[in-house]
Amino acid sequence: MCGIVGYIGQKQSLPILLEGLKRLEYRGYDSAGLAVLNEGKIHILKQVGKIASLEAELTGSHMPGVVGIAHTRWATHGEPNQTNAHPHCDCTGNIALVHNGIIENYNSLKKVLTDKGHTFRTETDTESIVHLIEEFYHNGTSFEEAFRSALLEIEGTYGITLISRYEPDRIYCARKGSPLVVGIGKNEYFVASDASAIIAHTRNVFYLEDGEIAIVSREGFITKTIHNKPVTKKVEKISFDLERIEKAGFPHFMLKEIYEQPQTVADAMRGRLIEEEGVSKLGGLTTILHNVLRSRKIFITACGTSYHAGLVGEYMIEQYCRIPVEVEYASEFRYRDPIIQDDNLVIVITQSGETADTLAALREAKRKGATVMGIVNVVGSTIARETHGGTYIHAGPEIGVASTKAFTSQVTALALLTLMIARTKAMSAEEGRQIVKEMKKLPEKVEVALQTDKLVAQIAREFKDKRNFLYLGRGYNYPVALEGALKLKEISYIHAEGYPAAEMKHGPIALIDDDMPVVVIAIHDSTYEKIVSNIEEVKARKGRVIAVVSEGDDKLNKLVDYTIPIPTTLDLLQPIISIIPLQLLAYHIAVLRGCDVDQPRNLAKSVTVE
Ligand code: G6P
Repeated sequence: MCGIVGYIGQKQSLPILLEGLKRLEYRGYDSAGLAVLNEGKIHILKQVGKIASLEAELTGSHMPGVVGIAHTRWATHGEPNQTNAHPHCDCTGNIALVHNGIIENYNSLKKVLTDKGHTFRTETDTESIVHLIEEFYHNGTSFEEAFRSALLEIEGTYGITLISRYEPDRIYCARKGSPLVVGIGKNEYFVASDASAIIAHTRNVFYLEDGEIAIVSREGFITKTIHNKPVTKKVEKISFDLERIEKAGFPHFMLKEIYEQPQTVADAMRGRLIEEEGVSKLGGLTTILHNVLRSRKIFITACGTSYHAGLVGEYMIEQYCRIPVEVEYASEFRYRDPIIQDDNLVIVITQSGETADTLAALREAKRKGATVMGIVNVVGSTIARETHGGTYIHAGPEIGVASTKAFTSQVTALALLTLMIARTKAMSAEEGRQIVKEMKKLPEKVEVALQTDKLVAQIAREFKDKRNFLYLGRGYNYPVALEGALKLKEISYIHAEGYPAAEMKHGPIALIDDDMPVVVIAIHDSTYEKIVSNIEEVKARKGRVIAVVSEGDDKLNKLVDYTIPIPTTLDLLQPIISIIPLQLLAYHIAVLRGCDVDQPRNLAKSVTVE
């Protein structure tokens, strides 16, 4: 989704802005632009498409200047074209502004401002903000007051960064619902919507909270609320290394992240398993432990891949903790007025910690009195800060838009939680020890599952031109089927559906013919015999079957077109291994089709609008 970078210091801003934009490319965008202030003038450059197209525009011109802002846009209001790309200017071109989020009352603002003589040039909601600031400023207030007054008038969400000719040595920033981080260098400052854009320059940062503004100059910064109350910010250190956001020799971030999984699964468990007692310990839950353990009902709410991890969590928690669990898309949960009681626990799962629907669901759950815990990857993200307690999955930055390592780490965290709760209920120490033992073997088994890569690439070649895929699984592997299908459609643009295998006969079976690949997760678990029957049903209709099977299971070789053998584990942990070949299958098919795996069309890594 949209990204922001800003710079003020002694150096030329252009290369810093362009580099920052490139680091934000992974978030998903359709156009980009930047504004640099030099000798009292603002120079603007915008372009549709990749940052490379923006750079191409620059040939010959260097856009000098030591103050600048830049933006990657993911269109919400107005199609992706050069005009609608940010930065946007007021009538005089004296203010340039970039914005993430959505201004909900932009239509009425636009009308009022147009009546007052402002000329709008774009179809965006953002443009209303910059004219509104101009309006207040021309009514005789200070620039800062004009900025704050405008913020008080706008409804919706924003992360805003602006430069102006009126105060050429300052960058103004504001946040409500859309993250902004300020990086502190030596006589230089950076602003970004995502720390990865500035980590090459500084690790010392502070995060703006909702309702706060920052006025940044070369000499320092002022932070206050939009109501003009001073705020003191705590400077924090970003802990991840630059190499975690680089490709490290892999052709794509997605492949790198798929291959990181033995490590990231181990990182999610590190220091959290006590083998002798057959139990897990999650430090981030200490303050809410009582409520977590005594909860009589659990809601899990999330979006996309995180939602699929939540479905696995439902199976685990109900099986081992005997607590009823309801899993719901955050976008539905937030609006349907769910019945939540104060002994209910709401678990929000999110990689980015910024997903707008998940954040709203969290706030709704809190309002209704539930204890809310997070399973979050990005440390310090909004959701991580707003939950009552939670656990970080420690997967490190996930850059590939198609989520991979976050999923396996989320499922690992859910297994830790299940174990922790179950051991205070009916689970024996012996059973707990068995789970701990199996969890410890996971990184090695994920490593073995990755060795299917060559075989999967070969299968991908055969099926890359198909237009539809069906993914089937049962029990714990049903959410894996959903996730496998999501991976494929996200990055290869092939239509794919995931289904509980037995449900196939209630509809999707009508689609099956000799042109329909069906990916079946047919692990030797408690549902094995039943899934074999489902495969028979597909084969009877000449469907082509790619089966993910248990190592050593030769029985299916004759029945299906391809088998992909992987290691097995306890049913509750199996999704962490079963998903690996499906991630690889989606990856290889997308690459063979020439798709941009790391920046698939229309998608955003972090969806900060609803
Ligand atoms: C976007 C991403 C998905 C992700 C979903 C939820 O749609 O493209 O990969 O699963 O958001 O994101 P979250 O950060 O909340 O896990």
